[in-house]
Amino acid sequence: MSVAVFPGSFDPITLGHLDIVRRGATLFDSVIIGVARNAAKKALLELDDRLRLARLAVADLPNVTVEAIPGLLVDFCREREASTIVKGLRSGSDLDDEVPMAAMNRHLGGVETVFVPASGALLHVASTLVRDVARYGGDISDLVTPEVATAVYAALGTRP
Ligand code: PNS
Repeated sequence: MSVAVFPGSFDPITLGHLDIVRRGATLFDSVIIGVARNAAKKALLELDDRLRLARLAVADLPNVTVEAIPGLLVDFCREREASTIVKGLRSGSDLDDEVPMAAMNRHLGGVETVFVPASGALLHVASTLVRDVARYGGDISDLVTPEVATAVYAALGTRP
């Protein structure tokens, strides 16, 4: 049984993430979306909301589940018997960020990382940009699910 973890902050989960999850779900028997707290930055959405919205978004994918990562990603992978981490790559700067993390996770836990290239139509979709567009009343309806859009506007106190 091949298990992969797709980790991230998912603040919020975007159509770009969902594209990677769908494609990852064809490569592994099961994929766990691991929602991290991310001690380094204050999230817009609470962890419980990020979990709920991710679960709603993958409800049609029978081999995808969603869980919180309470600590180190490699510990979570070991507990779930996942030998692989899946990550999406949009650009060279994503690669620059991801390669050290992949190397660290292999160093710490012997877990390999598989990179899935983002689909061309979604190269511009990033949680940071989604939050920024919504903060100023821009339209995020074709970047996230309807439930995510509602939650993001509510958290920011804005609307399109
Ligand atoms: O969506 P993000 O914020 O780019 O995801 C970063 C994430 C959550 C994958 C990374 O911060 C992480 O793995 N956090 C869990 C704690 C951990 O294991 N840190 C060391 C990673 S090398």
